[in-house]
Amino acid sequence: MSRWDFVGRRDELNRLLSAVGGPEGRGLLLSGSAGVGKSRLLREGIAALPTDRYAIWSVSASATTAALPFGGLVQVLPAEQPQGLSPAGILRWAVDLLQEQAAGRPIVLAIDDAHLLDPPSAALVHLIARAENATVIGTLRNGEQIPLPIRALWTDDLVELVELAPLGPAETTGLLTAILGGPVDAGTAERLFRLSAGNPLLLRELVLAASGGDELSQTYGIWKWTGRLELAPSLTDLIDTRIGRLTPGVRAVVELVAFGEPLGLQLLQRAVDPADVETAEERGLITMVHDDRRLNVRLAHPLYGEVMRRQCPVSRTRRLQATLAELLEQVGKRRRDDLLRVAVWRLDSGTAQNPALLLDAAAQAFGRYDVPLATRLARAALEAEGGSDAAELLATILMFGDRPDEAIQVLDSVAGEVTDDQRRSRWLTVRAMVSYWGLSRESTVDEIAARADELTDPADRARARAFEAIMRLHGLDTDAALRLAQAVLDRPAAPVAARELARCTIAHLHAARGQYRCSATAIARVQAEVARWRDDMPYLQLAMELARGTRLALSGDLSGIDAIVADEFADLAGAGDFRLGTGYLAILQAYAARLRGHSDEALKTSLGACAVLATSRVYAGLAHAERAQAAALRGDATHAAEAMAEADRTHAPGMAVLYPWLEQARGAVHAAAGDLPAATKHLCALADRLREDGFAGHELLVLLDLVRFGQAGAPVGPTCIDGGRRTVAQRLAELSERVDGTLPPLVARYARAAVDHSPAELLAVADDFAARDLVVHAAEATAMALHRAGRSRAAATGAARERLADLLRRCDGVSTPALRLLRPALSEREWEVARLAAEGATSRAIAERLYLSSRTVENHLQRVYSKLGVAGRAELRAALRSMPGHDGTDPV
Ligand SMILES: Nc1ncnc2c1ncn2[C@@H]1O[C@H](COP(=O)(O)OP(=O)(O)OP(=O)(O)O)[C@@H](O)[C@H]1O
Ligand SMILES: [Mg+2]
Repeated sequence: MSRWDFVGRRDELNRLLSAVGGPEGRGLLLSGSAGVGKSRLLREGIAALPTDRYAIWSVSASATTAALPFGGLVQVLPAEQPQGLSPAGILRWAVDLLQEQAAGRPIVLAIDDAHLLDPPSAALVHLIARAENATVIGTLRNGEQIPLPIRALWTDDLVELVELAPLGPAETTGLLTAILGGPVDAGTAERLFRLSAGNPLLLRELVLAASGGDELSQTYGIWKWTGRLELAPSLTDLIDTRIGRLTPGVRAVVELVAFGEPLGLQLLQRAVDPADVETAEERGLITMVHDDRRLNVRLAHPLYGEVMRRQCPVSRTRRLQATLAELLEQVGKRRRDDLLRVAVWRLDSGTAQNPALLLDAAAQAFGRYDVPLATRLARAALEAEGGSDAAELLATILMFGDRPDEAIQVLDSVAGEVTDDQRRSRWLTVRAMVSYWGLSRESTVDEIAARADELTDPADRARARAFEAIMRLHGLDTDAALRLAQAVLDRPAAPVAARELARCTIAHLHAARGQYRCSATAIARVQAEVARWRDDMPYLQLAMELARGTRLALSGDLSGIDAIVADEFADLAGAGDFRLGTGYLAILQAYAARLRGHSDEALKTSLGACAVLATSRVYAGLAHAERAQAAALRGDATHAAEAMAEADRTHAPGMAVLYPWLEQARGAVHAAAGDLPAATKHLCALADRLREDGFAGHELLVLLDLVRFGQAGAPVGPTCIDGGRRTVAQRLAELSERVDGTLPPLVARYARAAVDHSPAELLAVADDFAARDLVVHAAEATAMALHRAGRSRAAATGAARERLADLLRRCDGVSTPALRLLRPALSEREWEVARLAAEGATSRAIAERLYLSSRTVENHLQRVYSKLGVAGRAELRAALRSMPGHDGTDPV
């Protein structure tokens, strides 16, 4: 009775199959309550797919695999994974591997219980779903917490989310017939439908419970339930009744599997009587799964595991976990995950006494950015007398888990044990990092400088200096930062991590200064060395992201941003709790969306960044500033002002290096509020400050904003020898020779065209912006061209209007000062008439509709034409479409 024919669900099955083979090419996730039949439907769907046409991988996640990084995908990934790769590298490697095995066939990845995927697996699934030739299908159980990358599958439109409803009465009867192998009496079917509420699992358990006694009998070939069985139909109770009847031996099997799945069959057989394993399999409690080269044992239904685990007394749970750890230790830890699994079982069973094992496992978990697991392991290592090494690791992890106070306590508790110089240098640097970024103590920089002098070994000193350098950069003491970082690089004895940290500091500074080529070369080197620094300093990744992100954002390289967001973001966001990484990349993603004019996405993503970074002070100000920008882009002055106030409140003084972003946002907030003079004054002062600080990359963007606000001719910078000051346009011409890349000359041309009132040149500039996906700039330059062209009725104006309409179609909800300039003062009546005329209605039809005379309609139209500067009806449609946001309505 363990398996019966598949019943009903025709529509759902077709939907699943067309999700894989259909033309729209989106995947499908089935959600539903426990036991409703999600897994079965998925299985049937997979079985119906031709394996010669598709490369199919089928995976089921479980509560046990959820505890281990990549545990959910053991069936997909080979046991041995390349060493030394970053988590992102592993993701890339895995994707490549699947593509290779697929050998050109479309990939289908089926994931049962996707909510139970561990964060890195979830990230990988997301990455695979993004691939053109891959479809993800799977199931989710209602009421469970869903990993962010999985949730993003449907918010990003990569899959459709469909709720699987319980079976209806007819289907339930069909299922009963299948279970019992014969027709069922109508009353029985009705009663069982009521009790099971159409849930197949519940139905099955009810029938099993009933057939245990003589309540279920066959009369004239028809099954009838005569029993009183009015038991509470709680699933837990039912399954419990069933499991409760197990012999102690079989129960031991099920319990071990419940805590250890997927569990190697050989391993299990060492601990229990193989006959009991067979019985458990026969009774449909466990199943054998070929994972890679191992034969693994899993529970036949996740609900069994849940009931088992929930009901297992604490002492027994611990004993089982200790047994599992011993078993795996005995056979030797062979797989990558084994060390972590043993460590977690040791931890959970209270038998974790080996600090080296715990420390190793903690470092491994942190190296995969699994902050909560790494914290538990490192804390256990410290408690198991792991000494200052454990304290250092725990404090580092706590700092990245936004718990700096605890981190300082941990460090100070071992201060007396830090005796040798090498340890002291590490202890010092971690403490400085927590104190500076975690607790916003700016005096930390001078403290670490003084303490570094006391270190005698050059390698130890280089490590401290590298930290001092990056702190000085963040605190805006850029000259000192550069000098210190350069000194670390010049020192052959410097440890790799220290050297690469120094390189990131320099790369960041170069980016801010507009020296993008040097910056990119440096970051490429840091990346090339990743295998040599990751174990020592996994968080160096953040310094690298910040340097790289700054360059990409300043140089307007949106596809570069897309690449790191799709790549690292999938990984870091997957880890979920490495919030600084997730948060920063979300800020970058919002930035790219904003410049593309996707204002809704920009706002949502920046809100997401703010939420992720709520408990940290490192990037919180930046996240709120980006939110202010997104709101300003939508012309939402209130939201923008509120976000800016929050940016000011949360911005940490120790992150002063980010001031250009915050202050640039402030300009946008003034402009959104309609106060262009305040925006101009603020941005001019900001440009001057940036010039003094040597941040030419930032200065360029601020000057670009001034051009956007119609201020290309405004004076900036100091008074020159000739007694005058340079204009924004002149300064941009200077910068275009100093700042790397092709954006600066384009921005300089834009400013010049604005000053020269040259519509043709403005349109050419707009085309160049559009080619870089800088859609908002392109639309604004076009709007400016149209505005400058005034009400001339040149044919070119019509074409420009078409182009503006096209650009605005690529955006959503965008309303900026430059675009608002174009909005003519049409009366409500004129809008109404114009809209109808643009839709093609004749004057007479309009007149009838609005209860006006045809003559009045004609008069209105003439006024509209002259206000819009169009020659007649033919141009009206494009003219209206190029005017976004009139009273928040789409004009056409
Ligand atoms: N349409 C169906 N026809 C026949 N049997 C079914 C059908 N749907 C579900 N079943 C059976 O009902 C039981 C529960 O279904 P399944 O395991 O698919 O539930 P689920 O929704 O995945 O539950 P969970 O949320 O716990 O994972 C299984 O034994 C399954 O084979
Ligand atoms: Mg299921």
